[in-house]
Amino acid sequence: MNEAPVITIDGPAGSGKGTISQHVAKKLSWHILDSGALYRLVAYAALDKGCSFGDHDALADIARNLDVSFLPQQGGVLKVVLEGTDVSQSIRSESAGEAASKVAAVISVREALLERQRAFAEPPGLVADGRDMGTVVFPNATLKIYLTASAEVRAQRRLKQLKDHGLNATLAGLVSDIQERDARDMNREHSPLRPAADAHTVDTSNLSIDEVVSKVIGLYENR
Ligand code: CDP
Ligand code: CDP
Repeated sequence: MNEAPVITIDGPAGSGKGTISQHVAKKLSWHILDSGALYRLVAYAALDKGCSFGDHDALADIARNLDVSFLPQQGGVLKVVLEGTDVSQSIRSESAGEAASKVAAVISVREALLERQRAFAEPPGLVADGRDMGTVVFPNATLKIYLTASAEVRAQRRLKQLKDHGLNATLAGLVSDIQERDARDMNREHSPLRPAADAHTVDTSNLSIDEVVSKVIGLYENR
């Protein structure tokens, strides 16, 4: 069993998990696990291979054999390479998130990804972001954070992200997408999105990125 310290950061779409994880990992010089990217990759690969989301055995096979590398880039952003192709951008769309949340409800897919996720816990430490990092994947984590924010605030953040990338969307459409994905992630049978019993919940609706990062680092230092 690896003894590297782990900080888990769970929460719904747009709560700031990815951004906060990158900043916290950079401050501590720790590794990072973007577990959502794994579910996005399984969905992407399944669509690419024409595999039906109803074929759970084929999905689990894809999850088990994912040939993926996460390459650190300047600024802390990870380049995601699937079978030699850079898919960093294509797996980030809202439709890829929606597809990810469908394959993420399949228990054999979750099981196939479990050990791969745990292997990221290497010294000097790991910041892991997702939905079940504190509840299932790293139940003994050093510090567990659960980020929240209202659906409206999260949709505003997504809208800004899309606009920054020259893409179009409506706020109402994004609120409805986010609520639909929240409901699927929170109400599924396996590893539903919920705070671990020992998680610190942080509502980021009115907090800047720096304020959230300071709070997480403060909780880690004073644990
Ligand atoms: O990973 P997750 O979907 O939870 O959220 P994200 O992609 O890290 O963050 C969504 C957007 O919210 C990013 O553009 C952040 O810059 C912004 N944001 C934030 O993460 N935290 C705040 N306290 C305020 C804004
Ligand atoms: O960044 P955002 O919160 O929008 O999505 P993500 O973290 O990349 O996750 C995409 C989807 O993967 C989520 O809606 C979940 O259904 C699923 N997921 C999961 O089930 N368990 C995780 N540990 C991470 C993601």
